[in-house]
Amino acid sequence: MNYFINPWASQQFKDYKKLREEFGIDEFNFSLPDAPAIFRRGVVFGHRGFDYIYNAIKNKKDFAVLSGLMPSGKMHLGHKMVIDQILYFQEKGGDIHIASADLEAYHTRGVSLEEGYRTTIEEYAKFYLALGVDYERAELYFQSKRREVKDLALKLSKKITVSELFSIYGFTGESSVGHILCPLVQIGDILHVQLDKFGGPRPTIVPVGVDQDPHIRLTRDMARKWRIYSFKDVNERIGIFLKGIEDDVEKYLKRVAEYLNVSAEYNIPYRAMYIEKMDKIKLDVALARLEREIRHYGFVPPSATYHRLITGLDGNKMSSSRPEYAIFLSDDLDLVRKKVKNALTGGRKFAEDQRKYGGNPDKCTVYELFVYHLAEDDNYLREIYEECRCGGRLCGQCKKEAAEKLTEMLQRTQREAKNITEEEIKKFVKNY
Ligand code: TRP
Ligand code: SF4
Repeated sequence: MNYFINPWASQQFKDYKKLREEFGIDEFNFSLPDAPAIFRRGVVFGHRGFDYIYNAIKNKKDFAVLSGLMPSGKMHLGHKMVIDQILYFQEKGGDIHIASADLEAYHTRGVSLEEGYRTTIEEYAKFYLALGVDYERAELYFQSKRREVKDLALKLSKKITVSELFSIYGFTGESSVGHILCPLVQIGDILHVQLDKFGGPRPTIVPVGVDQDPHIRLTRDMARKWRIYSFKDVNERIGIFLKGIEDDVEKYLKRVAEYLNVSAEYNIPYRAMYIEKMDKIKLDVALARLEREIRHYGFVPPSATYHRLITGLDGNKMSSSRPEYAIFLSDDLDLVRKKVKNALTGGRKFAEDQRKYGGNPDKCTVYELFVYHLAEDDNYLREIYEECRCGGRLCGQCKKEAAEKLTEMLQRTQREAKNITEEEIKKFVKNY
């Protein structure tokens, strides 16, 4: 079966457990200090390498946050969910970098660069700031304008073949070269924040929808491929191995012991050394930094969180292309009330039946609004769930409650957005 995740098709994934198992995504069950509810409700359902970020947060170490989106259409609640994660990471000390994927939008959605620029400034930049992204610690840049991103795409691509790209993404001979370049530019996005100019090698978190997993896997592979040291457990010790360098093997290995300030045993013909057990994350980050010092790339493989795709109010994927079923951050509040009123619920046709048999919150788009956005408090959420199940809650009333909370939140956001000045946007957006 040729089953792969296609990042450019709007598929919907329902069975997240199966998806995790199929693609080797780990279950997300970190208990994060002061984290928003989506991190503990299975909305953020999976991750790769999040232990690096958990460790950085706990030990107050540097980490980077890289997020990106195509400037096509308006911002909706699905985007807000990623921003909620970004805000949490910001609070925990991460430095934030946001890519306007204008090149990707140009190649895959037919959005001109000028149009992408305008949308980025007028819609995206404004709402990021309105929701609380702090321009002192965050930047928004354009793929098309950041040379380092494009340079990395062109340089790192030395270690990936056409057939690898084709088999990951299902490209064919008919695919445009521009489209084929998009994953490489995205690798550039993700890894460039670890160049010295942007903060150096450090753990990097990329919060994304699971449709982006192929890019994440590829980027993690790339980061590893360009490293010159690798390590693994060997009996009771850790073996560190040098790869891709023929000369001065001894010098390169000794440098490691020196840098880590540990004693080691060497096996030069084997290009190996052995050290006492130590923390693996610390070792990985230290080796990446050493590699950078000796003029190699030294990227720490980026970590990712995967969130569920948010459902539109008709039960399909929320998307700008079906605006009646999406909630946009800029939506008129009366329109929002109307949209919620028309939403697909898990309720019964007749109130009488609902009172008798209860509704089904698990199949309800309004309940999902509460889970993702409108009920931070777990007790409140449980109350809604149980009331619905046992018939004590009717959909009309429940929708009103949701609409009220939602319009409150949007009103606040829109007020903030109005107050964002051009000066602030200029500080936030690079190459404004
Ligand atoms: N490919 C992403 C999308 O389809 C956009 C994107 C570009 C991105 N570069 C990124 C996302 C880097 C996360 C990290 O929306
Ligand atoms: Fe959904 Fe609320 Fe109706 Fe239950 S009562 S089905 S949660 S809208």
